[in-house]
Amino acid sequence: MQSFIIVLLLIICIALIVWLVSLYFKYQELKKTFRNHKKILRSVTRTINSVRYGNLYERVPDETSSVLPNLSQSVNSMIEAIVDREGMIKEYQSELNKKINVLTEVEELKEDFVATLTHDLKVPILAEKNMLAFLLDNRFGELNNRQKEALGYLQSSNKELVELVEIILETYKLNETKIELHKEEKDVNSMIEEIIEQMRPIADTDSITINYWTEFYNRVAIDEFYIKRALKNLILNAISFSEPSSKIDVALCNDDKNIYIKITNYGKSIKREEIAHVFDKYYTTAKKFRKVGTGLGLYLSNRIVKAHNGEIIIETDSYNVPYTTFMIKLPIFS
Ligand SMILES: Nc1ncnc2c1ncn2[C@@H]1O[C@H](COP(=O)(O)OP(=O)(O)O)[C@@H](O)[C@H]1O
Ligand SMILES: [Mg+2]
Repeated sequence: MQSFIIVLLLIICIALIVWLVSLYFKYQELKKTFRNHKKILRSVTRTINSVRYGNLYERVPDETSSVLPNLSQSVNSMIEAIVDREGMIKEYQSELNKKINVLTEVEELKEDFVATLTHDLKVPILAEKNMLAFLLDNRFGELNNRQKEALGYLQSSNKELVELVEIILETYKLNETKIELHKEEKDVNSMIEEIIEQMRPIADTDSITINYWTEFYNRVAIDEFYIKRALKNLILNAISFSEPSSKIDVALCNDDKNIYIKITNYGKSIKREEIAHVFDKYYTTAKKFRKVGTGLGLYLSNRIVKAHNGEIIIETDSYNVPYTTFMIKLPIFS
């Protein structure tokens, strides 16, 4: 009995040892597989990162496919798909670039055409202006009051046409070049008075009066030609968007650093959602009010004022007395 127990224990011990040895070999095998997988995963990660940084020629090495065939095949075919898409995107991009180039050329041709046409239009318009001035000066004989009144209207619409043509020509000229300022110390107050006098005949057509106040009489370094252009644009807009028989208030004031030229018209106020767009090239609502508009006036004025390190500020109120103020802010010392 005793020897039976000893044999049994021996058998159990041997079985235990065999089981432990086989467990050990299995463990070693698992360790090796784990090491291999780790190596493959590292290789796959390296390939993915390489592709991520633009090396589309990188692939998971072949030797890995025997160990983890599905993973390396999937990663490699994913990279192939990316390469295909990349090729397609490049093709689309070059198509798109070609289309953009054509559009840009068409846009340039269009602007060239408008600029040339406008330039040619200026000649007869100026001839008409001179002829009207001669007629009103009685050079072709004495005119009666009704004839004078009719010619006065013609003269103011001719003035508007001249301004429109000037805005278009200036805008297209500045499209090609940066605004180059020739600044000189100028008496801003006299300049504003002069512009208002020039604009009065246009305002008179709709019985609009222009008032002017100032509390600033010093000189400021500006490019007079350009600031006059901007100022004329704002006053022309104020006239266009005023109610007939209303008034326009122009004021010149200052603080320590800046001067402010404010132009306010009443009746119609500019809509708040419109303010974000009014300086965009070609933005205009003029046709809604049966007026002639190019949408270039504020675009040009804004560029001019910005070139002077200033800004155009818009104030409006549609609740109490509807009004719109366009204010040119210019630094006194620049
Ligand atoms: N004083 C103003 N009052 C109301 N709206 C204005 C005024 N000035 C400009 N706007 C708005 O801004 C738009 C753009 O003005 P602008 O660039 O001068 O172009 P245009 O006068 O040719 O329409 C106008 O069409 C109008 O909608
Ligand atoms: Mg305008």
